[in-house]
Amino acid sequence: MTGEKKIEPFRGSFFGKDVISVEQFTDKKEIEDLFKIATKMKRSVEERKKRDDLKGFCIAELFYQPSTRTYTSFYAAAQRLGVSYFIPLHGMAAYSSTVKGESLPDTIRTIEQTTAADLIILRHPDDSSSEQAALYTQVPIINAGSGTKEHPTQAILDLYTIKEELGKMDGLEVVMLGDLKNGRTIKSLAKLMAVMAPKTKITFVSPTGLEAPLDFIKGLKNKGLVIKETDNLDKVLPSADVLYVTRIQKEWFTDPEEYRRVQGSYIITPELMRKAKRKMIVMHPLPRVEEIDPNFDSDPRVAYFKQMRNGLYTRMALLTAVLRKTV
Ligand code: NCD
Repeated sequence: MTGEKKIEPFRGSFFGKDVISVEQFTDKKEIEDLFKIATKMKRSVEERKKRDDLKGFCIAELFYQPSTRTYTSFYAAAQRLGVSYFIPLHGMAAYSSTVKGESLPDTIRTIEQTTAADLIILRHPDDSSSEQAALYTQVPIINAGSGTKEHPTQAILDLYTIKEELGKMDGLEVVMLGDLKNGRTIKSLAKLMAVMAPKTKITFVSPTGLEAPLDFIKGLKNKGLVIKETDNLDKVLPSADVLYVTRIQKEWFTDPEEYRRVQGSYIITPELMRKAKRKMIVMHPLPRVEEIDPNFDSDPRVAYFKQMRNGLYTRMALLTAVLRKTV
């Protein structure tokens, strides 16, 4: 039995829905509602208020790829909401029956049966993993990063950070820098902006060979976003409101020579950032390797540490919105 579940647009409500792709967002109000809940969650955390929104619920978290931020913030989010049972399954690719050849559908069925989970959080290297998993369980799947194309909860926390730091999320000049071919965070964020912040101007800056895929750029343009592409960061940095830096995604390279060719080809330093505005922010989904010099970390324009905390608040918001009809 596979069920007939399809990726459903949110249409104003997250309750009981899978969260597979940012393309499920249809309306600005959806993200605004989520942000309002996130800000409420932020207050609860700051006041150390004990919440019990998820009392009685069980959440399973299955990760087939490395993670620090996404994994811990989902875990902490569920705990802070008073979840009764949390099944933390890191290292699925190494320690589960996947090693014996079990398929993702069978593993998802298994987890639903053995834990009676009300929701499953999944990170997996295949682009279609979350969509596929959703076909084999009755409970909602939250995509915590799939392949090279989608990382919807990262996009939500990124947009929340932009709004918190700059006071607005539309009409900004955003420079996205790095491995735009393999990076999934920039793809989800740009697609989310196309719906939530359609007056954004995005400039993609990448080393040769790591450019954003053509069909992805075409999709953004079709939605009305103004998109530019260049390999010259110096030219576009002075007018940027947001510089979104990403690492070169070494794990997707098949030829180590290819990686060495692009390694270290861009590094954000305090000197370079003299060219940028004083009121702008530098973001990074992290982990960083060498693309941001730690000497820049004390600059007031740094938003990459705050981004991580916003991940806790926005994931708390999303978990309650999916599991509870009224928040
Ligand atoms: C990102 C990811 O997994 O795509 N990490 C994260 O979730 N913050 C970015 C990356 O690995 O480069």
